[in-house]
Amino acid sequence: MRFIDSLSGHDTYIIGGNYVAGKRGEARSELAVYNPSTKRFLGWVPVANKDELDTAVQAANYAFGVWGDNTKWSWVKRAEVIDDLAQLVKANADNIASVMARECGKVLNECVADVVEGIHMLQYCAGMGRQPIGYKISSEIAEKDAETYLAPRGVCTVITPWNFPFAIPTWLIGPALVSGNTVIFKPSEETPFTAQYLVELWDTAAKKHNVPQGVLNLVHGRGEVGEYLVRHKGTVGQLFTGSYEVGANIKKMAADHYDKFAICEMGGKNSLIILADADLELAVNCAVLGAYKTTHQRCVSSDLIIVEEAIEPKFTERFIEITKRIKFGDPFNSKSFTGPLINQEAIYKHYSNILQISKEAGRPLFADEVGSSNGNFVGQSVFKMKHRPDTFALREEFFTPIVVIVPVKDFEEALYVANDHEYGLSMALMTNDYIKMREFKVRGKAGLKYVNLPTIGAEVHLPFGGMRRSGTGMPSAAWLFNYMCHETAFTVNYGREIKLAQGLSAEV
Ligand code: UN1
Repeated sequence: MRFIDSLSGHDTYIIGGNYVAGKRGEARSELAVYNPSTKRFLGWVPVANKDELDTAVQAANYAFGVWGDNTKWSWVKRAEVIDDLAQLVKANADNIASVMARECGKVLNECVADVVEGIHMLQYCAGMGRQPIGYKISSEIAEKDAETYLAPRGVCTVITPWNFPFAIPTWLIGPALVSGNTVIFKPSEETPFTAQYLVELWDTAAKKHNVPQGVLNLVHGRGEVGEYLVRHKGTVGQLFTGSYEVGANIKKMAADHYDKFAICEMGGKNSLIILADADLELAVNCAVLGAYKTTHQRCVSSDLIIVEEAIEPKFTERFIEITKRIKFGDPFNSKSFTGPLINQEAIYKHYSNILQISKEAGRPLFADEVGSSNGNFVGQSVFKMKHRPDTFALREEFFTPIVVIVPVKDFEEALYVANDHEYGLSMALMTNDYIKMREFKVRGKAGLKYVNLPTIGAEVHLPFGGMRRSGTGMPSAAWLFNYMCHETAFTVNYGREIKLAQGLSAEV
């Protein structure tokens, strides 16, 4: 299969395949992929069947015996493979971004940024190979030395979403592999080709370093494929980024087995708080970026813009002025600020969101109905309502381009509204008041907090994860390294006799 060649041509259909035990599987026309900005057919991937999935699990377990054995493969040696992968990604960045724009619909500059984020993560992972591993700790007994030793956990299922089809897989796969685990990667069925591109490049890097076959496997398909892997006795780690519903299910399935663990990044209900002392232009720009970048399909997009009453009318006027100018269009047109929604289902969700919010907030302040029927385009909508507990608008995640402006009397009410739901992913505050910044840091219930910035734009060397419904408290990106190994204790006695700790006699 000349996969990369066909990926770089714009007019060709793409045929993807599974990649199991270091071999490309047969190309079968089972799952059709469409371009969200044209609704035109883009290509096919197969749906991995049970035999292929069992083979992938077996291959990943076999490979783990070698790759995960620190007497055979050191952290440094594994990291060198990732370093080569990072360089291959750099050389292919434009092609990857163009494939992504076609299957995911993000505008080209966002696709480039997605690949750059992936490069940063791979670079970070390559560097981690040469960082200290574990600790040396003093023993109570002078003749003993103690240390922690990091043992990789085993075969990990990596299930990733379509909105960051390159960066998010690197956040999960990179730390898993460098620390000695092996992976079965199930990307979203909406964006299989970006994933395929990453794995094709991995294959080149892996061959150069004689990596055992089966260290990284790729299987295509819908949710059933992921579920089969999560339930499989042969997988240990379940690394997932996606919706709360799926993540909650993965957590339950993992809890049923003594040796499984689940690290899930799920949805968000993210607020941008704007205080009266904030720089208004900066605040408006942050609101626009958080509301409309990626067509509001980031788990860190801003659903709520909570504004102090003293400046709310001025803010709203300026925000609507810019909202009117935002163009939703062809990802390859540099005038498009953002692209379409991912699929028809997302369009239904958008209109159902609007219906529910209208019941609570009344008519929108602004609603752009223009949308090209050629693609999954919708317009942007802005509502305004006061805080009311238990409302859809203030508690449920939108994931479509809608924002609700919530006027509040002061910072206390703003923080209350921003925390008054079950999610806890991203939150931002616009102010110059350093006391309130600190209050926000301490009392804001979110895994990512920003001051004088939008709710979007995380960097890979920081923890990326949420509290409450948004995550399992084990953040991904750089912080995933902390969870990919068993941290075990290792103690050596250099003395001629046994001396026990806690002053216990060792006489027999
Ligand atoms: C997501 O929202 O699904 O922080 C991921 C950001 C990006 C990653 C977003 N670096 O906006």
